[in-house]
Amino acid sequence: MTSRLVTVLEHITPTQNGDDATLAALKTRLILDSLRAQFIVAPRRLREMCSFMLHEMTIGLRPTQDGVPASTLRMLPSYVYKRDAGNANGIYYALDLGGTNFRVIRMLVRGGRMVQSLSEKFTIPKSEMSGDADSLFGFIARSVRQFMVNKDVQGDNDVQNNQTKALPLGFTFSFPVKQTGISSGELISWTKGFTAKGVEGHDVVKLLQHAFQKQGVNMNVVALCNDTVGTLITRYFDDATTEMGVILGTGSNACYWEKARNITKDADIVAFAQRHDSADGHTSEMVINMEFGNFDSTHVSVLPRTQFDDAIDQASPNRGAQRFEKMISGMYLGEISRQVLLYLASMGVLPASFGSSDRLAKAYSFHSKDNGLISADRTPGLMDTRQLLEEHYGVRVEDERARYIVREVCTLVIHRAAQLSGMAIAATLLKTGRQDNATVAVDGSVFEKTPGFRAVMQRTIQGLVGRGGADVRLTLTRDGSGFGAAFIAALASQGA
Ligand code: GLC
Repeated sequence: MTSRLVTVLEHITPTQNGDDATLAALKTRLILDSLRAQFIVAPRRLREMCSFMLHEMTIGLRPTQDGVPASTLRMLPSYVYKRDAGNANGIYYALDLGGTNFRVIRMLVRGGRMVQSLSEKFTIPKSEMSGDADSLFGFIARSVRQFMVNKDVQGDNDVQNNQTKALPLGFTFSFPVKQTGISSGELISWTKGFTAKGVEGHDVVKLLQHAFQKQGVNMNVVALCNDTVGTLITRYFDDATTEMGVILGTGSNACYWEKARNITKDADIVAFAQRHDSADGHTSEMVINMEFGNFDSTHVSVLPRTQFDDAIDQASPNRGAQRFEKMISGMYLGEISRQVLLYLASMGVLPASFGSSDRLAKAYSFHSKDNGLISADRTPGLMDTRQLLEEHYGVRVEDERARYIVREVCTLVIHRAAQLSGMAIAATLLKTGRQDNATVAVDGSVFEKTPGFRAVMQRTIQGLVGRGGADVRLTLTRDGSGFGAAFIAALASQGA
């Protein structure tokens, strides 16, 4: 909001008589209009963002150059090359670690199709998240052993040719990792509350392999991947027109197929392309993990930042980073709304009960899930919203108009997130030139559970890529992050 408008609004302090009621209504209207102008992203602004993202993608694939600012997108090579998936056969394991829970998966693949799967979720104790590498990876290795006992599949390790067979395992590790090959990569920095020492700057595959050895678990970690990559590959095994993998959940990110010859920052990848690309049209492609959560974080020059986004960023442990993620992810959507609601209460637009709620006073207390529920409330007089605010946050909202304002705030925050997510997908598809016929595999609670989110994304994509955007299929790919690692293990271990 402009400071001039804020000054004007601060001078409008209505009391109770008739004239003042008009003033109060005027103030409310001005403030709400200003919020709408900030949160509804205009088509021209979306086009600017889209062009800038294309630029950042292109720069991020090249070697860094003196005098050229580094891209805000990491554009990390995954070392997963596009191959025919149909040859994959056998039993593959996967480990999916991206938050406080991790999953162990066992998958049976025949002719490139998953014919059976078993899985189990384990919760990582806080002590292991903040301990050291040995205790964290030791816990994971013990859980894998436990899984094999629980599911009665120790026989997978059957002796073959006098040797116990090491089982191929794919490892989804959803943190920023600098990969150096399909089965090696160093953690750049921990996110999502993890602080275990001795992992940053180390090869996480080696740490896991070492833990397996110590615990007597006979697994061979043949592939390492990000959750977006797992999601893309899971859908790709079913649908060869899958161009992108996207996560819109607690965190947000995307990956896509890029021509290997364009990844000029890695000479080995370019050399691979030179060996395999052929005059008859075969072009090698590799999945690139964009890490788009960090888009435009250096100068925030095109993102539609508001005072609320700045406040969240300032109070966050990773200040100045992941500015895009902080506008679109489940971790932050509720918090953006909470900040707006408290602001509206401080301006007299919402009842004082918002400002005096102990529960709402705490940062991150307003859940993104409730944000979604309120935005979708269609009950007469918004009675569901009334009940939810009272039960979850101890805020009584007797005034029906105030409830409609709360619903509008939640809707605006979600709408902007969906527009920005759609913009990022449009930019990526425009980069690949495949915007006319593409499947986009999407996973994550924000996409799956927020009413209306997909429709706004779809409209935004269409607005940016033109008529072809109608053939962009946003497809929910649940649990793709884990299954994908097993599929990637299948590709990697069989050279399929
Ligand atoms: C964060 C991580 C990224 C991951 C995303 C979704 O943005 O940096 O690697 O893909 O969360 O889980």
